[in-house]
Amino acid sequence: MVSDADPSKWDCPPHTKSKHDMLASYLDGWYPILSSWNGRVLFLDGFAGRGRYNDGTEGSPLVALQRLIDHHYFPQMMHREFVFMFIEANEDNATSLEWEIDSFKTSRAPWPANVKVSVINAKFDATANAILGYLREQKANLAPTFAFVDPFGYSGLPMDLLAELLSYPRTEVFVNFMVGHVQRFIERDSQEAAMRSLFGMDVRDVLNGHSREADRVEHLRAVYGKQLQDRIGLDYVQSFAMINSTGNIGYYLFHGTRHPKGVKLMKNAMWKIDPGGGYTFSDRLDGQDVLFTPEPDLRPLRREFMLHYTGKSNISAEEMEWYTLLRTPYRETHVRPVLRKLEREGAIKVNRPMGRKQFAKGVTIDFPSSPPS
Ligand SMILES: C[S@@+](CC[C@H](N)C(=O)[O-])C[C@H]1O[C@@H](n2cnc3c(N)ncnc32)[C@H](O)[C@@H]1O
Repeated sequence: MVSDADPSKWDCPPHTKSKHDMLASYLDGWYPILSSWNGRVLFLDGFAGRGRYNDGTEGSPLVALQRLIDHHYFPQMMHREFVFMFIEANEDNATSLEWEIDSFKTSRAPWPANVKVSVINAKFDATANAILGYLREQKANLAPTFAFVDPFGYSGLPMDLLAELLSYPRTEVFVNFMVGHVQRFIERDSQEAAMRSLFGMDVRDVLNGHSREADRVEHLRAVYGKQLQDRIGLDYVQSFAMINSTGNIGYYLFHGTRHPKGVKLMKNAMWKIDPGGGYTFSDRLDGQDVLFTPEPDLRPLRREFMLHYTGKSNISAEEMEWYTLLRTPYRETHVRPVLRKLEREGAIKVNRPMGRKQFAKGVTIDFPSSPPS
C-alpha cells in the first residue's frame, strides 16, 4: 500500500488549486463575520496534509493562515483569538507541515499573539473525540468553527462524530466526499464498517436498491447530503461535483451551514472559480447540469422559476434572490438577468409603479397560471 506521504500523492492537479481558491475566498469573508462575535474562532483542518505540494503550491493550512494574517481587515481583528488546529495522522506529513508553518511564521514575524497554531499528529476521529470529551467535561461550548474535512478516501470521518462536533451553534463544515472511491467499494464486505460509519447508517439503507453503477453516484450524493441535513441538522447543505476530463465525477464538495450568510459566501466562492485544466465544477437543478463557468447557462434557473412560481402573483425580486441563493445552485446576481429576459419576452407580468426602476423595491411579478411545457 502506498503511504500517505508518498510523493505520488502530492501532485497538485488544477482542481485542487481551485478547491484552495474556493477555501481562500470563503475565509476572506468568514474571518471578519466571525470576528464580530466575542471570544475565539476555530479553524479545524481534520486531514491537514503536508503543507505544500510537489510543485510548491501551498496546502490548505497555509492557505487558511495566510488569508487571515494578510487580510486587509486583520488589524481590526486583533481583539479576537484565532485558533488553528491542523490534524494530520501521518508522521512524515505532520513533520513537513510543522516545518512549513514555522517558515510561514518566520516570514510574518513578529507573529501575532492572538493567532494560535497547532499541528496535531493524530487521527481526526480520535482528536475530535478528545475535544468533545473535554467540552462535555467542562460543560463548555465549542467556539464558532469552520471544519475542513478533506481526506484521500472515505475512512476516518464518521457521520456520528461530525454530528456531535457540528451540534454546537455557529459551526459549519466543508467536506470532500470521495464518491468515486465510495461507489467502487461500497458493496465489498470488508468495507461495510467504514461505509456505515461514513454515512451513519447501514449500507443496505444507503443503497436502497440503487445497485446499478450508472445511477449510484448521484444517489450517494443525495444520501450523504440528506444525512448532513437531517442527522446533523445543518439547514443549508450545498454540494457540487468535480468532473474530470473523462466525464466522471471524482468527488463532491459539500458545504453545510446554519446561516444564510455562509451560503452566500460559499456561492460567491464557487462562482468565482475559473475552471480549466480538464475539469469542471458542476451542480444539478431539476435533473439539468449547472456548470460553474464565468458565462453560466441560466436556462435551468429560468425553468425553475416558471415551475416554482406557477400561478403566483406579487412576487418580489428580493424574494426570488433568496430562493435562488438558498435553494438552487445559482447566485442571487443571476436572478435579474433572467427576469429582464422573461419580461422582454412577455413570459411574466411586471407590476411596476410609476418611477420605479427595473426590479427595485415595490416592483412585483405575476407568473402564468400554467407551468411551461
Ligand atoms: C487529501 S490530503 C489533505 C490535503 C490538505 N487538506 C490540503 O488541501 O492541502 C489527506 C491527508 O489526510 C491524512 N490522513 C489520512 N488519514 C487520516 C486520519 N484518519 N486523520 C487525519 N489525517 C489523516 C493523510 O496523511 C493526508 O495528508
